[in-house]
Amino acid sequence: MCGIVGYIGKKNTKEILLEGLKELEYRGYDSAGIAVLSEGEFASYKAVGKLVNLEEKTKDFITDKFAVGIGHTRWATHGKPTELNAHPHLGESSYVVHNGIIENYAQLKKELQNEGITFLSQTDTEVIVHQFEKNLKKSEDAFQAFKQTISELDGAYAILLVTKAEDKKIFFAKNGSPMLVGIDTDNDKYFASSDTPLIGHCTDVNYFEDGDYGYVSADEIVIFDKNHQQVEPKFKKLSTNKLSAQKDGYRFFMEKEIYEQSHVIADTLLGRISDTEVIFEELDAKLFDGIAEIKLCACGTSYHSALTASYMFERYAKVKTSVEIASEFRYRDPMMTQDTLFVVISQSGETADTLETLKMAKAAGLKTLVICNVDNSSMVRLANTTILTRAGIEKGVASTKAFATQVTVFWMLSLYLAQLKSTLSQSAIKEQIELLRAVPSAVKVQDSMHERIKRLSKRYLHGHGFFFIGRDLFFPLALEGALKLKEISYLHAEGYPSGEMKHGPIALADPELFTIALLPKNLLYEKSKSNVEELSARDATVCAISPLEFDKADDFIQTKKHPNYMLEFFEMMVVVQLLSLEISVRLGNDVDMPRNLAKSVTVE
Ligand code: G6P
Repeated sequence: MCGIVGYIGKKNTKEILLEGLKELEYRGYDSAGIAVLSEGEFASYKAVGKLVNLEEKTKDFITDKFAVGIGHTRWATHGKPTELNAHPHLGESSYVVHNGIIENYAQLKKELQNEGITFLSQTDTEVIVHQFEKNLKKSEDAFQAFKQTISELDGAYAILLVTKAEDKKIFFAKNGSPMLVGIDTDNDKYFASSDTPLIGHCTDVNYFEDGDYGYVSADEIVIFDKNHQQVEPKFKKLSTNKLSAQKDGYRFFMEKEIYEQSHVIADTLLGRISDTEVIFEELDAKLFDGIAEIKLCACGTSYHSALTASYMFERYAKVKTSVEIASEFRYRDPMMTQDTLFVVISQSGETADTLETLKMAKAAGLKTLVICNVDNSSMVRLANTTILTRAGIEKGVASTKAFATQVTVFWMLSLYLAQLKSTLSQSAIKEQIELLRAVPSAVKVQDSMHERIKRLSKRYLHGHGFFFIGRDLFFPLALEGALKLKEISYLHAEGYPSGEMKHGPIALADPELFTIALLPKNLLYEKSKSNVEELSARDATVCAISPLEFDKADDFIQTKKHPNYMLEFFEMMVVVQLLSLEISVRLGNDVDMPRNLAKSVTVE
């Protein structure tokens, strides 16, 4: 996820671009940049890290004349978060910003390099500007060269390009990534990836359709559709409410983030899998030299994702793995041996207890790895090695997409280790990679599923407690489901291993005890089913989540018949998230900011 902005007019271009980027920072903030073309001259600034760094770099840069400007805030996909990889990317006399992925970039890059073009970055984006300039040399007209370039790109994109060859225009193209253009009362034009940066400036906006391309100048907006027919902009009034605009039409950030999971998982996979292997550019295989055990340490939802990792690391990579709650680990005088790789997991990278365990591990001379969603956070700065989860900023206090991307990273990491240690065959790895590729579609929210959960939720607003139960990997998912419900509904919920219910909790069974049973078809189905039957025989109210019909349940949420339990895991994850959400909505709670909780807990 990246964010792009553009402006053409006489106002303070720099301020408009920077303010716009500020609004889009939630889409990514490992680096940012702007390029402004005024009176035939370009000025361009880039900075790594948060936007304040770019603000600092541009503090003496003044824009008080007619100008065209473009800006970008980046969430690294191809290439590390460095200044060279930050957008805008320069050709000879043009700059481009891009959100999305150019799938055929490697091929185009090779052709351009063979023709003598030098590339400065590792990004897919840079090919756009060089390809444009190559086409420009053969064409009289910059717009024709742009049109030709767009036709040569495969993949998803929102693109803005400015060039000295037409220094009073911005060229744009949109396919698969969001972009809109707006006008203010002076008819100045603004571009952005979402409407929030335009609120307060623009009165009317046009949301581009996939396949749209064209240009804007001081007096016109020229749009061609995917069939190359010129179309009029379809202006709509822009809302003046920033908060509701940020939610993109969803009722809550949590809901939006549940729906975003398909996208962010795709981002997390990007560049990290080929057809036959898992690739982590950020890892040096030496990190695992001399390692006999992996210890994972985290809090809250991140702890649950660590638990899933322990199943996958042992099963696929045959590495001894243990998991610790950070606040416990800190004070129990733990044994720390040098043959242990110490892994911390944190959405924010700032959680005080987790951070402290990382410091302890470093002090004990252990190798460390952090799995984190926030680049430049305290943990990222401290660890030897980092894998970023690429979930984008998560605003709902109850974590959803961050968890989804953490589990995705752990799955990939377990396969990476399996490759290193040859614990899985080539064909098994290949099969697993095919499954990984299917995750974005497995987590896509189906309207019918959401509707069913909405309807069912009214039956689960009371009772004396919930048990979420599952076996194997579905036990951490049960813990996570129960945590979600607790956090936002304030109802008592516990996650429990299905097979353990008979050792105590079953004493609680009565019609007012709600059991949410995770029953995947491809993992210990019969065993889990028997455990649920024991509960329904004692009159507990059971809601079964399974691809297979289950007549002993009071309620049944049917999931798809996936070929593997990992895909069942991801679909059921969405089901338990939505169930908590809808129960909380019916109870009238503040879904995004539940009482007593904080997004980032930087105290002990
Ligand atoms: C807080 C949040 C939880 C989160 C936990 C760990 O308690 O409310 O949602 O799971 O901290 O946060 P981290 O940023 O380290 O993953």
